[in-house]
Amino acid sequence: MKWDVQVFDSVDSTNEEVRRQAESGAVEGLAVLAKQQTAGRGRRGRAWDSPPGNLFLSLLLRPKVTPAEAATLSFLTAVALLEALDLASVPATLTCKWPNDVLVNGAKIAGILLESRTGPDGALGWVTVGIGVNLAWHPEGTPYPVTSLAAHGITVTPEDFAPWLLARYGYWYGRWQVEGFAPVRTAWLARAQGLGQPVVVRLPDSELQGRFVALDDGGALLLELPDGRRQTVTAGDVFPA
Ligand code: BTN
Repeated sequence: MKWDVQVFDSVDSTNEEVRRQAESGAVEGLAVLAKQQTAGRGRRGRAWDSPPGNLFLSLLLRPKVTPAEAATLSFLTAVALLEALDLASVPATLTCKWPNDVLVNGAKIAGILLESRTGPDGALGWVTVGIGVNLAWHPEGTPYPVTSLAAHGITVTPEDFAPWLLARYGYWYGRWQVEGFAPVRTAWLARAQGLGQPVVVRLPDSELQGRFVALDDGGALLLELPDGRRQTVTAGDVFPA
């Protein structure tokens, strides 16, 4: 993959900048890197605090796959992030957590936000992969543990980190296009938090308990229930039981 990297001092949201350019016909490989965002967004409509020092990067992809297949790009993104963080030699354990968190010693260090456009015929138009990494700073008072590279005594700038991430992303995206989700799934499972262990999955108004045994072909979590049946989970938050 040949990336066309555009660096902005400040944008509303790098995902929004990629969306604008995608709608104007930009080709796959656009990578928008911003020093800060004034309206950074997270998952589930949350805001993403975006002061200078952290990484704010969005990629434009136009894979020739179905929207369901494109959803597995979130696992690819987590694997690329883990391998880029490996290059920072963090003296701690790096894991991924279903569906798309990247953790250092169990605390979230990065966020991934996939957004896409599907045409009236149901075909995928484009995908924006938004990635935020806490390099220099992390928020306080979150309902879950959060960390940054700086909190582990490591100084890495966005200008250092972006090329590491783009290189690992290019490698995995190339494989994903040829081989599909399988190798990405293997790499993701090798570093997955809670694999083989009892977990609780919190859904909006219920809870499931079981053993996290695998990911299915679409990236859904496979849970083995206490009675031995297998349940597919497509949404929810996973915690150790
Ligand atoms: C999450 O809620 O965990 C996802 C956060 C994603 C944040 C990144 S920062 C770069 C890109 N631009 C945005 O507005 N959001 C994503």
